[in-house]
Amino acid sequence: MAAPIENIVIAGAGQAGGRAAEALRARGFQGAITVLGEEAHPPYERPQLSKAMLHSPDASVTYIKQARDWSDVLNVRLETGAAVIDGDADRRTVTTADGRCFIFDRLLIATGTRPRKLAALEGSGIEIQYLRNVEDALRFRRSVQHRSRIVIVGGGVIGLEAACAAARNGCRVTVIENETRLLARAFPPLVSDLVAAKHRSHGVAFVFGATVTGATLAGVQLSNGETIEADLVLVGIGVEPVPTVAERLGLPSQGGIAVDACGRTEASDVFCAGDAALQWSRCHGRAIRVETWANAQNQAISVATNMIGETKAYNDPPWFWTDQYDLNIQVAGDMLDSDHIVRGDERSGKFSVIAMRGSDVVGALSVNVAKEMAMLRRVIAANARPSRADLESPAYDLRAALK
Ligand code: APR
Repeated sequence: MAAPIENIVIAGAGQAGGRAAEALRARGFQGAITVLGEEAHPPYERPQLSKAMLHSPDASVTYIKQARDWSDVLNVRLETGAAVIDGDADRRTVTTADGRCFIFDRLLIATGTRPRKLAALEGSGIEIQYLRNVEDALRFRRSVQHRSRIVIVGGGVIGLEAACAAARNGCRVTVIENETRLLARAFPPLVSDLVAAKHRSHGVAFVFGATVTGATLAGVQLSNGETIEADLVLVGIGVEPVPTVAERLGLPSQGGIAVDACGRTEASDVFCAGDAALQWSRCHGRAIRVETWANAQNQAISVATNMIGETKAYNDPPWFWTDQYDLNIQVAGDMLDSDHIVRGDERSGKFSVIAMRGSDVVGALSVNVAKEMAMLRRVIAANARPSRADLESPAYDLRAALK
């Protein structure tokens, strides 16, 4: 008979760590749960840090649960300010930066990602900001309220949501993107162009095919020889897994921590969920890390269930959204390396783009048609195969594809 599970330790107190702890209790686990988080805060919602928090001076952070409810309602021991830095797979322990040691029967690594740094700026004297946690969001919000001249490096989700907030506050904004278009990792060119036009109509300038090579207190130098005056630089050039306990447990990074469909790593009784987990994606046809709010939450809930003995594969297609001005854009699955079908009239500002590989629907992007995206996500998840002609026709009811 398997030994009873008495101690579950969760390294990381973000969306994944918090939701996993909740899910363990919801599934009836009665042993000890310890959540160890590096930040000073209990788990909170990250998407709003680059959205509502920047737009409204009154918006405050939304916690998944009030701090005392973790202990009083869920009987979860939540340790904030407790970065996990070491682990021992044989002794089944993890150690925090302040030297405390925690024993586990099951461990969930949910330590997530951190912003990639732009080395060219370090030590230049110009103010450099990143946008990942509550403190970052509050700092950037103060900056945009001062109508600063802001250079944003990276035309991805973070850079563009920040650009939107800054432009709306009257800042002079220039976005530097080293690809030839915005959001190239996830968007088809048609939508990259639409987003660029929207930003330009609010005064945002773009430099494509360039990066920042240096800076002085007065501004930044670009790889194309240009100099741009700036009061501060916001860097949003992607994220990388936080190098924490995994390597110490014998789990070398493969660009993420490799897990099976149930979130099991290669170390026994060690699981991983959220941004750091590298898991097979049917839509992509390869293992990927999914850096989204939805994945952090839903994968963690699923993996928590597996940690206490059930076997439940997690295979939700990746999904995220971004809000910029009056655009709500949502992306599901994989939009790259595929044929694209436009559904609806792109000139109306409300349409979807559907990605096909052969007869498989592998991705979808919606512009201001959230309801349609809800159906498209179901079509992708069900591996349904409506014909291209049907998908092209806005009159075709997507529900028919699910029957
Ligand atoms: N100079 C200029 N642009 C760069 C550079 C560079 N040195 N390096 C990368 N970029 C560009 C990329 O081409 C890309 O368009 O920066 C953009 C980064 O976009 P994302 O990969 O989407 O990363 P980011 O916007 O930082 O968002 C990080 O936060 O919103 C969450 O989970 C979401 O994965 C996302 C994460």
